Amino acid sequence: MKFHSVITATGSYLPENIVTNDDLAKKVDTSDEWIRTRTGICSRHIGQEHETTSMMSTKAAERALEMAGLTGDDIDLIIVGTVSPNHTFPSVACLIQQNIGMKNGGAAFDLQGACSGFLYGLHLADSQIKLGVTKRALVIGAEKFSAYLNWEDRATSVLFGDGAGAVILEAKENTEGTPYGLLGTKVHADGDHADLLISEGGVSTTGTGRIIMNGREVFRHAVRSMVDAVAPLLTENNMTTQDISWLIPHQANLRIIEAVSKQLDMPLEKIIQTVSEHANTSAASIPLALDNANHRGLLKQDDMLLMSAFGSGFTWAGALIRWQEIK
Ligand code: ACO
Repeated sequence: MKFHSVITATGSYLPENIVTNDDLAKKVDTSDEWIRTRTGICSRHIGQEHETTSMMSTKAAERALEMAGLTGDDIDLIIVGTVSPNHTFPSVACLIQQNIGMKNGGAAFDLQGACSGFLYGLHLADSQIKLGVTKRALVIGAEKFSAYLNWEDRATSVLFGDGAGAVILEAKENTEGTPYGLLGTKVHADGDHADLLISEGGVSTTGTGRIIMNGREVFRHAVRSMVDAVAPLLTENNMTTQDISWLIPHQANLRIIEAVSKQLDMPLEKIIQTVSEHANTSAASIPLALDNANHRGLLKQDDMLLMSAFGSGFTWAGALIRWQEIK
């Protein structure tokens, strides 16, 4: 293979409106104490009417383009992981393409991998880059998950939030020496568990319906799958978690993150944690956490990053990255 992929910019957008646990407790029978203890969530960003999935994604993409010093026309592939598109069609990716002025006829499409959607997108963009088909991809995870929520259902409404995160993934020619960027990705699915976390409707059935979730079973599968998603990446690259600088897990629930940390023998200090302020933003959670860590200056040259996701389907995915600091 002639090329490998490197993340050369990150960007994100979070809605202005912040909703605390106490705000929610005024609407449904819950409490800050219950939510914090069970999930580690303190607040979430909830989009207003104008903050659609495409609007939030466009902002995240524009911020990434600005960081990279690029324009829309420098991008030849847009992949958006989302379960909350503006329209059934066209895709959010095509709306972003229009907004950023990408006129070069490159490809743009959405991908439905639930909470694993961003890592599925990264996997796909990486394979296109390695094939020599793509030079620069925008890979985005974006959700207006609040649009799905039944605010009277305390079992699910307290868990989610809205936002978008983006990366620019660029083709670099392979040269002698230490490889940078994506060292490996893994994607998996097992439809046997579709019923355990499901939105009860869709276009071909009854229209989008409420979320049905078996919380305990989802918890159990999430921990096991998030460990399984990264273990082979470490083995294949002759590494252990001792070699990892930062774990960036899907931000569903602090208790899930703690259990994964224990099983992987990764101290919590080496885990990027944004769930307390973002709640679960589904496909947006990992790119939001990555951009947060990048802007806080936590990611240094040669840092090894491990990403792990789990979501409805079930889907699960992992990525191993040697970080090239963005100047
Ligand atoms: N506030 C107060 N009480 C509540 C709330 C709430 N928001 N929600 C549920 N309860 C009550 C229940 O009614 C129940 O009451 P009962 O004992 O009188 O029947 C009690 O709390 C315990 O309910 P459980 O569902 O058994 O609570 P549990 O300890 O399992 O915690 C939780 C629930 C937090 C959802 C947990 O199962 C979990 O984290 N599961 C993972 C699910 C998840 O993260 N999903 C996100 C999407 S998937 C993904 O992104 C990985």
